[in-house]
Amino acid sequence: MLKPYSAAAARDLDAGDPLAHFAAEFHHPENPAGGRAVYLCGHSLGLQPKCAADYVARELDDWGRLAVLGHHRAARPWIGYHELLSGPLAGLVGAGAGEVVAMNSLTVNLHLMLVSFFTPAAGRDCILLEKSAFPSDRYAIVSQLEFHGLNAARHLIELEPRPGEDVLRTDDVVSAIERNGPRLALVLLPGVQYLTGQALDLAPAIAAAREAGAMVGLDLAHAIGNTELRLHDWNADFAVWCSYKYLNAGPGAIGGCFVHERHATNFALPRFAGWWGHDKASRFAMPEQFAPLPGAEGWQLSNPSVLSAAPLLASLQIFQRADLRRLRAKSVALTRFLHDEIDTRLGDDVRVVTPGAAEARGCQLSVRIARPPAEARRCFERLTAAGVIGDWREPDILRLAPTPLYNSFGDVVLAAEALALAVRS
Ligand SMILES: Cc1ncc(COP(=O)(O)O)c(C=O)c1O
Repeated sequence: MLKPYSAAAARDLDAGDPLAHFAAEFHHPENPAGGRAVYLCGHSLGLQPKCAADYVARELDDWGRLAVLGHHRAARPWIGYHELLSGPLAGLVGAGAGEVVAMNSLTVNLHLMLVSFFTPAAGRDCILLEKSAFPSDRYAIVSQLEFHGLNAARHLIELEPRPGEDVLRTDDVVSAIERNGPRLALVLLPGVQYLTGQALDLAPAIAAAREAGAMVGLDLAHAIGNTELRLHDWNADFAVWCSYKYLNAGPGAIGGCFVHERHATNFALPRFAGWWGHDKASRFAMPEQFAPLPGAEGWQLSNPSVLSAAPLLASLQIFQRADLRRLRAKSVALTRFLHDEIDTRLGDDVRVVTPGAAEARGCQLSVRIARPPAEARRCFERLTAAGVIGDWREPDILRLAPTPLYNSFGDVVLAAEALALAVRS
């Protein structure tokens, strides 16, 4: 049953939305009829900011005009280009500028962090990870265990929701950490779980891990630019993220990394070294001895790709104008609206597995369609054919993320209408 007031309610909400104008700053893909698609897939790949092309063109132009001299003479000198990203990134994750660095990509950064923060010792040689962690995290963790002569069967402790439940309870996360405390060398947690959209209550989990004497790291792929984070205050040891989802920096964009200030000058930590992590003052003296920079920059290996960093810089200036707190307020309302629309229009034909409380989710909703698997997948395909872009995670999860920078309440109504048609036709 359609809820007749939805479209009118959406029009009112859009008319009163102080952030609505940002949608015009992005390129939106087309639907099969040649109109504008309803894009609810920012959890996978964010839309392209229109200004990204200028930022990239600027660097191509400087490269053409200046060649090697661009390192120092480009409008934004390449030698310090990544430093332009640190302040805005730090603002998004609740950190000091010295605690963050844009570099590499997520899984590479995770490995670099594990080199420093997973240092198993006799008796304290286990890693706690959620069972449905993103596969790349699991591969990285298992390969690091094996690198240390350990194995997943004995040294990987996996967290999963209670039987019959979809998401983790904070109490269960904390008690698993407490129960395994003395064995834990490292706890790795997601900011927002990629499959269920659950935003974990990180502060108590991080506190429990630190109390247990374990290092604690975070995968923020689905959290950065989505939820409000306070990494410094929460006391995580490290965090890693990618920038192609809610940060809208383009496919395979440069990722990022947080290292807590307390490790800034701990040069005794094991680390893999490269020249870009070396002291800036003596880097070009090419000394034999590696002297790491203090802070997160000391974990850099290579000089970063300026052409990959440019769209991120473009996108971060949009975030600065929009302001994460305002974005989050809109996001909470937008996702609530989608949840209500889905409940009203689809009833028992679907089940939203993402928690209902605003503080327990970001913008994404994960939806199970109450149909046999092959038919459920066909519903998703019909939704795509109708011009609503979400994504499908096997075996049975439809992910939809209304993103406050470029989605409207009107988009949500169109998506819910199309989903109802796709499921019921
Ligand atoms: C939660 C999560 N972790 C890790 C990754 C891997 O990212 P990358 O390919 O940048 O290493 C992804 C990619 O989508 C992800 O969603």
